[in-house]
Amino acid sequence: MSDGTLEPTPEHRFSFGLWTVGHVGNDPFGEPVREPLDPAEIVRRLGDLGAYGVSFHDDDLVPHGASAQEREAILKRFRSALDETGMVVSMATTNLFKHPVFKDGAFTANDPEVRRYAIAKTLRAIDLGAELGAPTYVFWGGREGVEAYAAKDPRAALDRFRESLDFLAGYVRDRGYPMRFALEPKPNEPRGDTFLPTVGHALAFIASLEHGDMVGLNPEVAHETMAGLSFFHGVAQTIWSGKLFHIDLNAQKIGRYDQDLRFGSEDLKEAFFLVKLLEESGYDGPRHFDARPYRVERGQGVWDFAAGCMRTYLLLAQRARQYAQDGEIQEALAEAGAPDLARPTVGPYTPDAAEELKRAAFDPEALGRRGYRNERLDQLVVELLLGARG
Ligand code: GCO
Ligand code: MN
Ligand code: MN
Repeated sequence: MSDGTLEPTPEHRFSFGLWTVGHVGNDPFGEPVREPLDPAEIVRRLGDLGAYGVSFHDDDLVPHGASAQEREAILKRFRSALDETGMVVSMATTNLFKHPVFKDGAFTANDPEVRRYAIAKTLRAIDLGAELGAPTYVFWGGREGVEAYAAKDPRAALDRFRESLDFLAGYVRDRGYPMRFALEPKPNEPRGDTFLPTVGHALAFIASLEHGDMVGLNPEVAHETMAGLSFFHGVAQTIWSGKLFHIDLNAQKIGRYDQDLRFGSEDLKEAFFLVKLLEESGYDGPRHFDARPYRVERGQGVWDFAAGCMRTYLLLAQRARQYAQDGEIQEALAEAGAPDLARPTVGPYTPDAAEELKRAAFDPEALGRRGYRNERLDQLVVELLLGARG
């Protein structure tokens, strides 16, 4: 994917949510610190920086309660910015968390009328996404959870979640939209506990869906990290399962609220292995940043943030190529036995193979004396990241 240049170009497939660079900096303790940006202006600025796509929630683009004429005017402006810049809509999604109607959930709200409203809103938002050519539709269940355990049977909630997704997938297929769904797990926030809290839960859930083939994941760095899990491993398993449809890149300190920091600004080693994985796996979807500028930024600071996300990605991709060509690292990998993990262990089961294995002579003491020199290997990775390897 990435070709050595540190200048972002559309081929790198960098995209940003309108709500990311457009975030006005409000938080639970403080008011907005920046003025709202016009979506068309965001498209132009991101296009100038070398991004290829934008994503949005229905309400980011067409505010809740806009009239039909207002909707038309907004879409016209937005479309002409896309046409002028060559930027695409790489993903669309629904805001099912902001309005008070969703305080008890959307697809898993206890009130059936709220659930029906959530599906109706999503149907309209899918139409909007399809109209603007979004190939991926994301489902982040922001309010799909609970604080009081007694208030919701999680099994019933999963039934309702599945019913909603089956219904919406049926609609997309029926309409013939070239669109796939991507579920975005998150352990908590804003709810005390969220349904489908991690990549693993979401992957298992997809297997139960009627149209599971068109449903994959949109994992986010911050969310797995909040749960204390390895995002690198979560994404690897998603790729292994053929389910990486989209990705939300940002940075996060472990054990905190969802920080949505600039990509690569925390845990560079994990970010390195993530970029290396994405680049080497053949993943050709968007490198989508779901992050926010620090609240202290204004004006140019927002675009410094956006440029920084892309530049760090490209720098890490450059390091990944260097890693593959570094003789000492390759030697250390061999000493650690890393390439041997790719060799099948026993092959498919046959009665003869099992008998042969039981008769084979092993020397566990000798095997147990082997050292793997992982310290040296990891130190080489650290030195590579610190620029100490040429
Ligand atoms: C969050 C989520 C959201 C979603 C977005 C798209 O923690 O707030 O990451 O930013 O990604 O709503 O579904
Ligand atoms: Mn998030
Ligand atoms: Mn996200």
